[in-house]
Amino acid sequence: MPHLKVKPFDTSIIEAQIAKSTVMTCSGKALTRDDLLIGVEHAGEEFLLQLKPDEEAYLLKYDKVTRPLKVNILKEALNKVSKELGLDILSSNIATSNTKAPLSSKYFKKIEDFETITYPKEKVSVEVGFGSGRHLLYQANKNPDTLFIGIEIHTPSAQQVLKQIELQKLDNIWVVNYDARLFLEMLPSNICEQIFVHFPVPWDKKPQRRVISPSFLEESMRVLEKGGKLELRTDSNNYFWYALETFFSIPKVEVEVRKNEALEVTSKYEARWLRQEKDIYDVYVKCTQESEPRTEIIDFNFNDVKYTFGIEERLPKKALVFEGYFIHFERIYQISEQRFLIKCAFGSFDRPEHKYILLEEESCRYFVSPPVKTTVNFKAHQKLAMQIMHAKGE
Ligand SMILES: C[S@@+](CC[C@H](N)C(=O)[O-])C[C@H]1O[C@@H](n2cnc3c(N)ncnc32)[C@H](O)[C@@H]1O
Repeated sequence: MPHLKVKPFDTSIIEAQIAKSTVMTCSGKALTRDDLLIGVEHAGEEFLLQLKPDEEAYLLKYDKVTRPLKVNILKEALNKVSKELGLDILSSNIATSNTKAPLSSKYFKKIEDFETITYPKEKVSVEVGFGSGRHLLYQANKNPDTLFIGIEIHTPSAQQVLKQIELQKLDNIWVVNYDARLFLEMLPSNICEQIFVHFPVPWDKKPQRRVISPSFLEESMRVLEKGGKLELRTDSNNYFWYALETFFSIPKVEVEVRKNEALEVTSKYEARWLRQEKDIYDVYVKCTQESEPRTEIIDFNFNDVKYTFGIEERLPKKALVFEGYFIHFERIYQISEQRFLIKCAFGSFDRPEHKYILLEEESCRYFVSPPVKTTVNFKAHQKLAMQIMHAKGE
């Protein structure tokens, strides 16, 4: 990722340069360490750069939490900032390139997109953890009237399938590079015909990481239309029994089990087990009723929250853990007397959100964008707001 190593310099020049800068908007100094954040606006994007002083060299680099998708925007911003500050560059990797942003295809969707997305097809199916994508691509080719949403946590697999979508000229797959356990919450009720979960990682030693869980099942039943099916295919005996137990934990359910059923398409993963003559189990869970529409109102405004004297000292230093989620004020940067950027982690333990909160004399907001609209994030947001208003110190 783009960065510059520069000769140590007097960082007080940053403040003076911000007033005349074409890119820099503010800077903040960490309260407990030496590093700084530099706020930047460039090519229509707002983000932060980090400056990390060290004896030999200062490192100017991107900030993970706010980084824009296009690497070239970052490189241009680093270049401009270093020129405006007159920095002496020791080493750099910011030559701009013509390579496409890795996930820039129109078939790649960010989780945030689902807050306002329009579904281009009436029928929708979801595949969780599509891996090499063989089954996803096969289904999309065979059912051009259905939109297939593939969710894959592993970025190179997502990239590979995006390439295949273009090569095979498909227009009915969306790829989401996210954790499937949290994704279903973004979908409206009764929208899906099928949810495929083929060969999920068994996680025998860390069952809490399994995709199938009571809450995943509950969300699946909400997003499936009446008569729609959740389809689990697994080679793991343990996972099969675990899933059956989970499926039977809900009050009304129709479950069908098959053993060693051949599908029309075999994934690379499955082919390996077939060569070893391993048993393969299919479990189909049918959704038997229509669900209520999602009504939850999620609002990430901080309303009356604003700076109160000394809050930067009173916020809890350690993570606060609640049932199913947490909040952690990780670092505080001071921009001016009553203006702070607070770096936080919060939300679910599996897929925490990382955000900055800009706390000012009269207001408070997420910088640069609010969290993903999930219920755990909303619960965490309410706790964050309460702490910023009322923290009493440790
Ligand atoms: C064993 S592979 C199976 C891949 C494919 N379904 C097949 O049948 O060949 C499991 C896949 O699930 C993905 N995965 C694991 N946990 C996930 C999660 N929480 N959300 C989305 N994908 C996940 C992994 O990255 C991996 O590609």
